[in-house]
Amino acid sequence: MIKKRSNILKIAIDSPAAAGAGTIAKAISKHYKLFYLDTGKIYRYIAYLKIKFPRKFNYKFIKSKIKFLKMKDLSKKSLLSDKVGNEASIISQNKKLRKIVHLIQLNYAYNPPKKYKGSCLDGRDITYNIIPDADFKFYITANITTRAKRRFKELKAINKKITYKEVLKSIKKRDKSDLNRKIAPLKKTIDSLLINTTNLNKRACFLKIKKIIDRKLIVNGNL
Ligand code: C5P
Repeated sequence: MIKKRSNILKIAIDSPAAAGAGTIAKAISKHYKLFYLDTGKIYRYIAYLKIKFPRKFNYKFIKSKIKFLKMKDLSKKSLLSDKVGNEASIISQNKKLRKIVHLIQLNYAYNPPKKYKGSCLDGRDITYNIIPDADFKFYITANITTRAKRRFKELKAINKKITYKEVLKSIKKRDKSDLNRKIAPLKKTIDSLLINTTNLNKRACFLKIKKIIDRKLIVNGNL
């Protein structure tokens, strides 16, 4: 059983790759003093371990690494590459591995460090698997070319050789597997609010979500 802090604000976000969810979630977390966890980074970290230590890679090894996982492990630049992203999308289809990762996510969602007023997690199965009782649920998306352009810009900064066409192809592939896989597929739940960021800049997205959150917090007397 995990420890649960009472009276904390919990925000759950699901989104396809490169929809801008991470940027928005970070801004929202900062504003409301919430602990932010990009759950995709955990799968990326495990994918990175698989690429770096192919011979050692087994459940025992993953468990030992995950047990002592630090936030700084998730901020490694090498986790951002397309290779790691694609591998993450493959390994994340493994049920046993997801179970190992599930517990860490629950812990951060329901028992964030004391200095935070709550938690904000983004990923693929957060709204219905990790924090089904979240105070706010969002499904953040954007059209495929906008997402590919955004990801291309990010990846170009770390890999000069990558082309837009390659990025588009890999995002399409990732969408296909994340949406259609049997275990924890990406989906918009009925109780999630749809935010389409195609024609919105970062500030506009932030303000749109802030307005939704503030309205409910004011009605409930929490603001
Ligand atoms: O969000 P990001 O693109 O970094 O995630 C990498 C991959 O990790 C995704 O394509 C997805 O397959 C997997 N993932 C997942 N469940 C989550 C977050 C990410 O399966 N909650």
